[in-house]
Amino acid sequence: MSKTHVKMTVNGKAVEALAEPRTLLIHFLREELDLTGPHIGCDTSHCGACTVDIDGKSVKSCTVFVGQVEGADVTTIEGIAQPDGTLHAVQEAFRQHHGLQCGFCTPGMITRAWRLLQENPNPTEEEIRYGISGNLCRCTGYQNIVKAIQAAAEELSVKEAAE
Ligand code: FES
Ligand code: FES
Repeated sequence: MSKTHVKMTVNGKAVEALAEPRTLLIHFLREELDLTGPHIGCDTSHCGACTVDIDGKSVKSCTVFVGQVEGADVTTIEGIAQPDGTLHAVQEAFRQHHGLQCGFCTPGMITRAWRLLQENPNPTEEEIRYGISGNLCRCTGYQNIVKAIQAAAEELSVKEAAE
């Protein structure tokens, strides 16, 4: 199949590549860019392990062709910590509140939670559960993920108040 030229920004860096139009964004990220944090947990768009952020929205990257994100601004789990390695409040809270076990859902879950807290900085428990309902986890039973997101929301609002 002939390749098409794609251009986008990924984690703040300009990316240009040739890719077959049928290439799914998740495969492009993992196989061409070696960003192997986003995972593949299904083939029916349910699990959300592949969740990345595209132009300010959480998107399941298994359900998008690479050509559809031409010119877009993409963030993956690899782009969420500070460049100096300091974890984002959401990442830190997942660690502190044991919001992960095998870690397979975690890149998608954190990328989603990161966007959720920008959409709704003070979510209720119900809003958190609904807000991550596109992300499945087989290990945690979700409870500690909810706690982690609540803690991150508090931490971020304290930070914002201090600024
Ligand atoms: S891999 Fe399951 S929703 Fe994308
Ligand atoms: S931590 Fe294993 S699937 Fe969520």
